[in-house]
Amino acid sequence: MRISVIGCGYLGAVHAASMAKLGHDVVGIDVDPARVETLARGIAPFFEPGLSELLVEARDRLRFSVDMGAVRDADLHFIAVGTPQQPDSNAADLRYVEAAIDGLLPHLSAGDLVVGKSTVPVGTAARLAERVATTGARLAWNPEFLREGFAINDTLSPDRLVYGIAPGDVAAVTVLDEVYAGAIKAGTPRIVTDYATAELVKVAANAFLATKISFINAMAEIAEATGADVTQLADAIGHDPRIGRRFLNAGLGFGGGCLPKDIRGFMARAEELGVDQALSFLSEVDAINLRRRSRMVDLTRESVGGSLEGKNIAVFGLAFKPDSDDVRDSPALDVAMHLLDEGAHVVATDPKAIETARSKCPGLDYAPDAATAARDADAIVVVTEWAQYKTLDPHGLAPLVAARVIIDGRNCLDPAVWRAAGWHYRALGRP
Ligand code: UDX
Repeated sequence: MRISVIGCGYLGAVHAASMAKLGHDVVGIDVDPARVETLARGIAPFFEPGLSELLVEARDRLRFSVDMGAVRDADLHFIAVGTPQQPDSNAADLRYVEAAIDGLLPHLSAGDLVVGKSTVPVGTAARLAERVATTGARLAWNPEFLREGFAINDTLSPDRLVYGIAPGDVAAVTVLDEVYAGAIKAGTPRIVTDYATAELVKVAANAFLATKISFINAMAEIAEATGADVTQLADAIGHDPRIGRRFLNAGLGFGGGCLPKDIRGFMARAEELGVDQALSFLSEVDAINLRRRSRMVDLTRESVGGSLEGKNIAVFGLAFKPDSDDVRDSPALDVAMHLLDEGAHVVATDPKAIETARSKCPGLDYAPDAATAARDADAIVVVTEWAQYKTLDPHGLAPLVAARVIIDGRNCLDPAVWRAAGWHYRALGRP
């Protein structure tokens, strides 16, 4: 099939490369010439395992352009632009979606299918469908559930496909089945529904995941007040298959380009619809999440004697989660900045996210690796659970950190091992 993908950010770049891998002819469109040039050279513009390899492997069927006119050869057009939070409210900023549709309309032909993948407030697809219909083309909404770090696998082996279509548009279902034929395994659930349900599936899923994380982090607050261990609590309740252990890792909470802005955008949309009460619990989910960051700063302050002024703090981790260089709404970077605000001398490190963090927070000091960051530190704080931090050797680090203080913001270290090596180990939600 001949496909265009409008927007080559995280979602679009992965989607374009994955569609080419499935054998389609793909053109990716982006307004940023530097990004287009990087992608065209077979280089991923951000860290995502396997993406650069895929760009090279699929290069014969994949091109990138800043020229919207290049979509003319295609008859299936994916909208994969970002919908960030507006700077002065909780609502999603739809300007890139609108711009994508504005740019696409003059190039659409009767019979084309436009497929929205971006996360949008419920009601957006119905509105856009009317505009698309003026050209004789049609619209479907097909939300994406990919996780950073697993984005290619999640796209090529989805755990479900959701098609939101106009009433009776069976032709759209046929087209989408054809485009994903190489990704659909026997038994892959495929939900064909209306636009509103398809839009809601995405935000409801993210709201549920955020709630699950904040639930266990609320339990961490109780554990801290009672001397209980939230990690054992999570293991124990997670054995109940109705609950499940995944997404019950207590710690610094959620960040990134999706969960925080999606729950806020969902609340803003519910308010517009006059059903804000239905989602008022999400403001608690958000508040619990943000409280973990302050608690981490409090714990660090306590652990170095009551004031951070002039203390050397080594921060291990900057990305919002491991296997990513993304620092959007990163709890790790937020903690680092708060420590700095309180007068600490912060040296931060991360296996992949130093450059993205530096562009956002030039005021921090950055070190290339954990040992360099730890030199002469009064305390180490672990804020992203990268595999290399989980296996750090407490004996190896001990000569660098005279006070032997470590604060585990992700419950990713073994307290027994660190304590046996003479460290003062503190963690969120653990005695
Ligand atoms: C998320 C959704 O999982 C994905 O389906 C959607 O398409 C986009 O948003 P992503 O942002 O890549 O994906 O990250 P995810 O792995 O979901 O983690 C989100 C945040 O939650 C991270 O900051 C992570 O550290 C945190 N988290 C996750 C926890 O704090 N505890 C957990 O148990 C799990």
